[in-house]
Parts: sequence; C-alpha cells; structure tokens
Amino acid sequence: MIIYRAKNYQDMSRKAANIISAQIIMKPDCVLGLATGSSPVGTYQQLIEWYKKGDLDFSHVTSINLDEYKGLGPDNCQSYRYFMNTNLFDHVNIDKNRTFVPNGLEMDSEKACSDYNQIIAREGGIDLQLLGLGHNGHIGFNEPGAAFEKETHCIDLTESTIEANKRFFASEEDVPKQAYTMGIKSIMQARKILVIISGESKADILKEILYGPITPAIPASILQLHNDVTIVADEAALSKL
Ligand code: GLP
Repeated sequence: MIIYRAKNYQDMSRKAANIISAQIIMKPDCVLGLATGSSPVGTYQQLIEWYKKGDLDFSHVTSINLDEYKGLGPDNCQSYRYFMNTNLFDHVNIDKNRTFVPNGLEMDSEKACSDYNQIIAREGGIDLQLLGLGHNGHIGFNEPGAAFEKETHCIDLTESTIEANKRFFASEEDVPKQAYTMGIKSIMQARKILVIISGESKADILKEILYGPITPAIPASILQLHNDVTIVADEAALSKL
C-alpha cells in the first residue's frame, strides 16, 4: 500500500488526477471504476482541465461506476448517473455508451445486479478503481456488515449514510432507502485501487482501516489485503495516524 500525503483537498485532487491520467496514458482503452460523493469532485475537475488543455484523451476509455440509488433515473439530479454526467462525462470526450452506472430504474433488484455483473465481466474487469470512504468505513454502498464475497447487490442504506447524504436532498424522506452497489468482491478484483480521503471527520476511520482488524464491520479494512492500493489523503485526514 502506498500512502501519499496531500496538503489539502485541492492537492489531494491533483495527485489523484495524476494517477488516473497515468492510467489513461499507459492504457488508452482502460476501464476506470469511478465513484461519486464530494471526495472525487475536485479530481474530476482536474481531469477536465487537463482534457481541455489537450493533455488527456478519453475517447477509448470505459467507465464503470460503483453504485446507484434504487429508484432514481438519469434525469433525477440526485442520481449518481446525473452526478457523473454533470461532474465529468459531459465535459470530456468519453463515449457515453461506454459509461456504465447501475440502472436505478430497474426495480427488479436481481436483474439490475446480474446485468451489472455481466457488464463488468464483459469489459474484462476494472483496471483502476477510484474510491471515496464513508464515515463508517463503507466503500461504494457496502455498509458495515456487508459480506466480503458479494458482487453487485441491492442494499438497505444505514441511518448514518442516509443522514450523511440528506444534505443533497430536499428532506431526509427524499433520500432513497436502498441502492445497488458493486460488492466488496467486485471492488477487490480491480487491478489497482485508488482511495481519496479528505478532512478531519475521516481521520478516525482512516486510522481504523489502515491499522485495525480486517472485518466486515469496517468494509474498507479489506483493502489491507489488496496488492495494489494507493491512498491519497490530506493532512487533516491523516492527522490521527
Ligand atoms: C456515498 C457513496 C460512496 C462515497 C461516500 C463518501 O455513500 N456511495 O461511494 O465514498 O458517499 O462520500 P463523500 O466523498 O461525500 O464523503
């Protein structure tokens, strides 16, 4: 595991974007596993900036996102598909047909998840998976207690995640209670993993995932067992190490 210390959010975003750019340059037709949340926004902005300067080409890149709220479609501004379009895809030359997010409008959970597993397999797996970290140690939407052996599945969001995510919705009642997420197994099968962590509120959980026991109670602790993980964290997030 490599840990890069960034000065602040902006520095973290630039360092993370550097790693993603290197992946695209080394393998122009790579498969990127992408994430949502506030952590990757700056990374995407940096990638867009470099694309606009002519330094990056997304035309052969495929992307596979981690998760989506069950019940929300691409037009809903709270959906992760909408987030990805507005924060990255609309601003670079990626072929939208090669960008994948679980289908939130498919109400048959089994079908939504098995379709997504098939997409991941068909694309040959993920070269570089970008991850944020939830305050309870969740990755994607794999909440504490999630079985390590799962691929894409439907989960019930925990109260703490609903609470953390309600800032994006008009009210807590509007936050969906379920989501489709790539499982821990799908994430661990990525060839490389890049985790970005910012802010003092993540300092305790970062220490826990790095030095604590590997347990489903803290899903991100499993990353200790992956052989190619890079963490880019800012000083505030690293303050408890
Ligand atoms: C959500 C997403 C996760 C993300 C987490 C942390 O729950 N499903 O993929 O990592 O939020 O979000 P943030 O980066 O806003 O702290």
